[in-house]
Amino acid sequence: MSAKVFDSHAHMDSDYFDADREEVFAKLRQEIAGMINPGCDNETSFKAITYAETYDFVYAAVGWHPEEVLRMQDDDLKKLEEWSKHPKVVAIGEIGLDYYYDDCAPRDLQKKRFIEQLDLARRVDLPVIIHDRDAHGDMLDIFHNEGKGLRGVFHCYSGSVETAKELLKMGFYLGFGGSSTFKNAEKVRSVLKYVPEDRILFETDSPYLTPVPYRGKRNNPAYTLLVAKNAALVRNTDVENLIEKSTENVKKLFSKIS
Ligand code: NI
Repeated sequence: MSAKVFDSHAHMDSDYFDADREEVFAKLRQEIAGMINPGCDNETSFKAITYAETYDFVYAAVGWHPEEVLRMQDDDLKKLEEWSKHPKVVAIGEIGLDYYYDDCAPRDLQKKRFIEQLDLARRVDLPVIIHDRDAHGDMLDIFHNEGKGLRGVFHCYSGSVETAKELLKMGFYLGFGGSSTFKNAEKVRSVLKYVPEDRILFETDSPYLTPVPYRGKRNNPAYTLLVAKNAALVRNTDVENLIEKSTENVKKLFSKIS
């Protein structure tokens, strides 16, 4: 295997990596083509930038995750805008809507902060990394009404083929991670089978959602390879070629990555 995978979504700022983060990064340098670490608030966005400054194969995204927006202040948008000019900040994310946890933040507030960050992405001309959990309807409405001039990826895509068709029509990429390897994930695999090769990104969402056969253990960006191998099986195609293509897709979408 010569082609190396690119992990388009991993949270190396997680406490799960506190004990051995530097060792993990040192190993990853050999194992993967690159990775993007999205932020979920100010603190994690800043950490992502720190990693990107330390490791040449690491890139950062900055943003406020829907589960964190209760703490977000208006000034934080200015902070994101400043950070967006950093040469290794390649996207605004992860941002979006999460209707799975009722107590995470009121839906109106989630939508307000999401739309503000979409406007920011348009203004600074960066792609967006979208988190959409059980909010497909509102998500489509928002993009139909305010999606003009935006590009991005729906990370860890979990919707239907029908919703995927809508998103692909709008030009979005779809990210597939460990959950696409789970036994009960037929719905995700039907989308994975359907998506054109030039719109697929791979990811881990480390430290969560660890692919089979390591499900339940800590995830790590090197396991993107397991996700890609599974995807090649599902699509009945050559894995090397699929990995190369998906890395090309990363560079096309996140144009600050060379
Ligand atoms: Ni994430």
